[in-house]
Amino acid sequence: MTSLYERMWPLIRQLPTEWAHGLGMRALALPIRLGERVSDPFEWRGLRLPNRIGVAAGFDKDAAVVRGVAGMGAGFIEVGTVLNRPWSGNPRPRMSRVAEQRAIWNRMGFPSDGLATVRRRLAALEKPGLVVACNIAPHPLTIRTADQPGFADRACMELDELVTGLHPHAEFFVVNLSSPNTRGLRGVLHGSGFADALIAPTRARLASLDAAAGRDHATPLLVKLPPETAEGKPWNPDSLEQLVGPLRPVCDGFVGVNTSIHLALRSAKEAEPDFPGGLSGAPLLPLALDANRVLAELAPDHLRIAAGGVLSGADAVALVDAGAHLVEVFSGMIYRGPSLVAECAEALRAGARPGEPNG
Ligand SMILES: Cc1cc2nc3c(=O)[nH]c(=O)nc-3n(C[C@H](O)[C@H](O)[C@H](O)COP(=O)(O)O)c2cc1C
Repeated sequence: MTSLYERMWPLIRQLPTEWAHGLGMRALALPIRLGERVSDPFEWRGLRLPNRIGVAAGFDKDAAVVRGVAGMGAGFIEVGTVLNRPWSGNPRPRMSRVAEQRAIWNRMGFPSDGLATVRRRLAALEKPGLVVACNIAPHPLTIRTADQPGFADRACMELDELVTGLHPHAEFFVVNLSSPNTRGLRGVLHGSGFADALIAPTRARLASLDAAAGRDHATPLLVKLPPETAEGKPWNPDSLEQLVGPLRPVCDGFVGVNTSIHLALRSAKEAEPDFPGGLSGAPLLPLALDANRVLAELAPDHLRIAAGGVLSGADAVALVDAGAHLVEVFSGMIYRGPSLVAECAEALRAGARPGEPNG
């Protein structure tokens, strides 16, 4: 059945993409329920979710519409990327549709209201109605100093500040070092020693916050992965092991995948060769499937959350079949509207395969 959103799509697609997203956010702030929440409880080492579908990072960067996202029927949301202080992001235009491919190009560059505002908004939500996770990263101004002495200490202090401030309101954390839209960020991810310098101390801090708060289970710390190697190749066990191997002992899981530089260069007219941005949506699904298949082999005991190219319930089922425990949506909602969340949650609950991926 065609949803109201899909019937309005010819109008929506006339609007500039970031503007249309802002309008959608305003609608989500209204006290309306957009979808039934499918009950499909999932538990991983004490972390309990009402169902296996979440809204990916970047959709609600500043925790402005968490209740609205719960009202779409999502089981969880990754708020963020949250920075320790406000940042305007890259100049506009920085988000657009590649409609013929059902894809989104973006080069947002972490616009953020900053930790204090996000913490205040989350604190005001008494019972958000879904699991709230926080996606965090060092500030772009700090990343710019990645080649200078003391960078790891500065970045680590910022992650410490973020987990300390957000711990009372977040049930798990994701460190994002895989956005292509902050110059130098993926360099940090691919650089040697970052697992020990940044991730291990952040997890140790979370353990002490858990102990002080008397949490009955450890707050999981995940790392978000890019969809491809630095050379633009899909992951294989050897290439992904180079990234995941050092992280395995110091984190609890992975989110795969972030947006693709190489798909952006191929498909988005805005992609400049020296700063291409990233592509998400339908063309990303094959890379997300590859990444999750390899990840299930390399990190069988870790929590694995899939993101990338989910436009139907069948896509979500395919990602779980590939090895993911949970699935996130973002670009698909721009093309399909909020009903995609409940469709995916129901498909996972039923274990249905109602068509080919992306069908
Ligand atoms: C406009 C836009 C902004 C995004 N911002 C973030 C972000 O702040 N942090 C992050 O980790 N991922 C961000 N992402 C990546 C998404 O979380 C997700 O990994 C990616 O879009 C693939 O999923 P999709 O194909 O369902 O969109 C963003 C994606 C888009 C399209």
